[in-house]
Amino acid sequence: MRIAVFGCGYVGLTTAVGLAEIGHQVTGVDTDAAKIHSLQNGKVPFYEPGMQELLARNITEKRLQFSTNARLAIQKSDVVFCAVAAPSSRKSITDLSAVLKVASDFALYSDSEKIFINKSTVPVGTSDEIARTIRTKQTKRTPFFVVSNPEFLREGHALKDFFHPDRIVIGLPEGSAANANKEPNRLKLTMRRLFRHVAKNGIPLLFTSLRNAEIIKYASNAFLATKISFVNELAQFCEKAGGDIKEVTNGMRHDPRIGIHFLDAGIGFGGSCLPKDLGVLLRTGKTARVPLRLMKSVKDINDAQPFQVIEKLRKKHPRLNGKKVAVWGVSFKPDTDDLRDAPSRLIVDKLLKLKARVHVFDPVALGNFKKIYGARLEYGKDAYDILKDADALLLLTEWNEFSSPDFKRIKKLMRTPLIVDGRNVYDPAELRAQKFIYSGIGRS
Ligand code: UDX
Repeated sequence: MRIAVFGCGYVGLTTAVGLAEIGHQVTGVDTDAAKIHSLQNGKVPFYEPGMQELLARNITEKRLQFSTNARLAIQKSDVVFCAVAAPSSRKSITDLSAVLKVASDFALYSDSEKIFINKSTVPVGTSDEIARTIRTKQTKRTPFFVVSNPEFLREGHALKDFFHPDRIVIGLPEGSAANANKEPNRLKLTMRRLFRHVAKNGIPLLFTSLRNAEIIKYASNAFLATKISFVNELAQFCEKAGGDIKEVTNGMRHDPRIGIHFLDAGIGFGGSCLPKDLGVLLRTGKTARVPLRLMKSVKDINDAQPFQVIEKLRKKHPRLNGKKVAVWGVSFKPDTDDLRDAPSRLIVDKLLKLKARVHVFDPVALGNFKKIYGARLEYGKDAYDILKDADALLLLTEWNEFSSPDFKRIKKLMRTPLIVDGRNVYDPAELRAQKFIYSGIGRS
């Protein structure tokens, strides 16, 4: 099929590269000319394992190209994916201007029946607004369909999630969702052709209404966020009650009703999705006059969680003024250089406010961190480089390379052998045996 993907960020680029890899003819479109230029030269503008190779291969094999020309891309495609940013304000109001701009371009340039598939995470009801926008802006009555196809990929696993998703959710306009799994109509057949790679592996294509699809995305992320805030709150209880959250969650996760994933206590969830989507859900709940009290608590717990690390630090160093604090890991999770809503930023901001001397190291995200903090921090060449005479080491991102460090070397380098393990990576008994002062999250 001939496909245009608008927006070449994480979601858009993964979609474009993935669809090209399974044989479709894809044009990635973005308004950022520098980004398009870099992609045309086979360069991925962010860190994502495996993306570079697949991008280069599909460009060479002429299944994938990039352009800033919306008109040409729309006219030569049967399907237009919208994966542009839908950022939200501090008050969690979603800015739909980029999404609606793609919708108006679609209306203006579409000259034959085409499908508009929205992947951007947008408040409930936006698919209807997209359809309205297209109808209003059309000069001719060219037939079109609006479909909602929320994205569930995780950064750091984006391509794996594209090729092996748990499910594909497809919201269809009214009328086409009924009996979706029994009587496939033309639109459903097209969607099955588009995602044939997953359908043939038995992964379900779940057809539903546009609104349900939109809600499924928020509900999924809110549920994941709830699991994390649940364990983070329970971690505080464990500390006071003489428990160890790691052992407690290990005892819970084998119950399939609870599930093995997303039960790791830490410094709180970050990234471009969970915090933003939770905020927007709360905001839309307010508009619908449904208070969503549980969601509000999930957010409150998460907002406070990063500062646990500071409290632990201050138990040993009540005054952080002038203390050297070494930080391992700043990306919001491993295998990404993304710093959007990274808890590390709140922690580093607080440390700077308390006048600590902050030295950081991250295997991939250091360059991006430097762009934010500049000369206010010191940046290490490697993990050990920042430990000399340090008064504390904070582990904030569980990159593999931090999992089994040379503790003898660490001990020799540091002035005070204090490790605050924000991700519960280390074994408290092992570190205490080596005369470290160890503090994890929820480990009494
Ligand atoms: C998330 C969803 O998982 C994905 O389905 C959606 O499409 C986008 O948002 P992502 O933001 O890439 O994906 O990261 P994810 O792996 O979900 O982690 C989110 C945050 O939760 C990270 O900050 C991570 O460190 C934290 N986390 C995760 C925990 O603190 N504990 C856990 O047990 C799991």
